[in-house]
Amino acid sequence: MSIRSFTEKTLAAEVFGRMKRTPDARLKQVMGSFIRHLHAFVREVRPTPEELDRGIRFLTEIGHWCDDKRQEYVLLSDTTGVTMLVDFINHGKLGNATESTVLGPFFVEGAPEMPMGADIAQPGTPGAPCMVTGSVADMKGRPVAGARMDVWEAQGDGFYDVQKPGGLNVRARFRTGADGKYRFRCVKPVSYPLPHDGPVGKLLEATGRHPMRPGHLHFKIAAPGCETLVTHLFVKGDRYLDSDAVFGVKPSLVVDFRRRRGGEYEAKYDFVLKPAKRKTAGSRR
Ligand code: BEZ
Ligand code: FE
Repeated sequence: MSIRSFTEKTLAAEVFGRMKRTPDARLKQVMGSFIRHLHAFVREVRPTPEELDRGIRFLTEIGHWCDDKRQEYVLLSDTTGVTMLVDFINHGKLGNATESTVLGPFFVEGAPEMPMGADIAQPGTPGAPCMVTGSVADMKGRPVAGARMDVWEAQGDGFYDVQKPGGLNVRARFRTGADGKYRFRCVKPVSYPLPHDGPVGKLLEATGRHPMRPGHLHFKIAAPGCETLVTHLFVKGDRYLDSDAVFGVKPSLVVDFRRRRGGEYEAKYDFVLKPAKRKTAGSRR
């Protein structure tokens, strides 16, 4: 048996060659591309062994920061633009449909169901009172009845309920009626830093970046026959709109939060849902 010798340039093909019998075609494609790009990256950067060790320690530290409350890998994906890239690939712009953006780590399944018009902020919640109204329709302008709308946001002090003691707050689930309309009170969204006391925060600092997100209100809207929409409404005029740490801002999602007489803010937005993707033979999920 002759023993093959590898070079810097042929090693990637050699590694992939060992995976030739991968039965799952998608895994084979993903791993082939991963190895090709990873080797190209390493050949370009030409790390020293100490730098390789540092990279491995960085990824290890990220793992150590993860638990059921904190997902440092998601923060890495968000702050490197990968989460938004996947969002662009899977939920591209379509006609008049509302654009999507990141889900973020603070969504909680099972928020309290509230009637339309409810105030989702408990008494004493920091922040300026705000009324949000609008509708949910399909791309032909027909009201969507029975849409399940999850809403959540940081409080006026920049923290989500799950980041501090106390129960769920400033998050709720609404269901649209026949007119597709929605209406609730909350607090005016404020800009806040994503959790930056871990390795991702250190990386942001080391690369001259801030951890701030512009003020926004999160929505997840699911309805029969429609593609589930995960999006935000951003506050027009926020100083971080152009430098969101997770690249989530799209101009179509920036909304005027107007101050009314009496001091309450008001925002209006009409959501437009895409039709559900049709499942075809061989499509995934
Ligand atoms: C958020 O908007 O809640 C968020 C999104 C990505 C990373 C951190 C926070
Ligand atoms: Fe958020």
